[in-house]
Amino acid sequence: MPDREKLFIFDTTMRDGEQSPGASMSVEEKIQISRIFDEMGIDIVEAGFPIASPGDFEAVSEISKIMKNSIPCGLSRALKKDIDACHESLKHSERFRIHTFISTSPLHMKHKLEMTNEQVLEAIKESVTYARNFTDDVEWSCEDGTRTDLDFMCKTVELAIKCGAKTINIPDTVGYSIPEEFAKTIKHLKNNVPNIDKAILSAHCHNDLGLAVANALAGVSEGVRQIECTINGIGERAGNAALEEIVMAIKTRNDLMPYDTGIKTELISKASKIVSNATGFPVQFNKAIVGKNAFAHESGIHQDGMLKNRETYEIMTPESVGVKKTSLVMGKHSGRHAFKDKLSDLGYSDLTDDIIQIAFGKFKVLADKKNIFMMKILLH
Ligand code: KIV
Ligand code: ZN
Repeated sequence: MPDREKLFIFDTTMRDGEQSPGASMSVEEKIQISRIFDEMGIDIVEAGFPIASPGDFEAVSEISKIMKNSIPCGLSRALKKDIDACHESLKHSERFRIHTFISTSPLHMKHKLEMTNEQVLEAIKESVTYARNFTDDVEWSCEDGTRTDLDFMCKTVELAIKCGAKTINIPDTVGYSIPEEFAKTIKHLKNNVPNIDKAILSAHCHNDLGLAVANALAGVSEGVRQIECTINGIGERAGNAALEEIVMAIKTRNDLMPYDTGIKTELISKASKIVSNATGFPVQFNKAIVGKNAFAHESGIHQDGMLKNRETYEIMTPESVGVKKTSLVMGKHSGRHAFKDKLSDLGYSDLTDDIIQIAFGKFKVLADKKNIFMMKILLH
């Protein structure tokens, strides 16, 4: 495999993910999550928003003590007290990142911050410069980036880099952008910010229109080299770009996106279950990569194809994401071939064709009445 460019994976399950209404996690649960993230090889783990609550502060502190591979990170507004809380909670780690942000869209500046463009620029200068006293790994984000005037965005980005930010994150805070537009924004920054080569560009996309992953990957095509994402796509409102989708899209279509995330994908399914248990958020059955049905086939035509060659209907193997095996679920759409295969799995391998035919007929009548989960119980 030729050398591929690194694409950094920044996980925010424990910060943005925890901002999903009802997704609070205890310190112990966050520690368990951070251990698997560390093992998976996630580059940066945003462990919380330390000023937000004593629990968040404690979680970030504990996580910063145990991370071996991942860089722990904390979020702060453009305020010294927030940055101090980040430093205090992260200082146990040899390396850590402070992520500071402020809104830059006219809407947020006027109605939320009640600040002028000049005041926002001053706040960027002060916050990034202050954060650099504690670490050289400072990330700056322009909240509501995709509704920000592009000329103003260029000014803010140039200033943040000048003050020492090493990563510039462009959030689609309200999930409003579409892939072509997000890619154009990145291209505009690349072409119009004189010091842009001194920082890594990052995408942080929300999923309000179901476009978070598509937008982040469109950003990569124009120079984004860090993606912010969450396990199972949890996060504010409709969530964030799902880590498992980003990583598996890059791995599966490496012919078109020749990047290396370095993630141990075999741990994805385990991480998904740990996060789902900790938050109490079930994963939808048809969720890409980690849903219960992501590697399950019920239709006869598909099952027949799978039994002949799995590549007929699977673009990645279940093993590659840590799922033991493909399941051929018996239901009303299943065919005779899969039925015979299932009987053999159950130990009935010496039945005559006539018996199989009779049993198959009865199975179809039953399958019309029961749903597939009943059928699974009946056939296992
Ligand atoms: O969505 C957003 O704008 C954020 C920032 C704090 C990065 O989560
Ligand atoms: Zn966000």
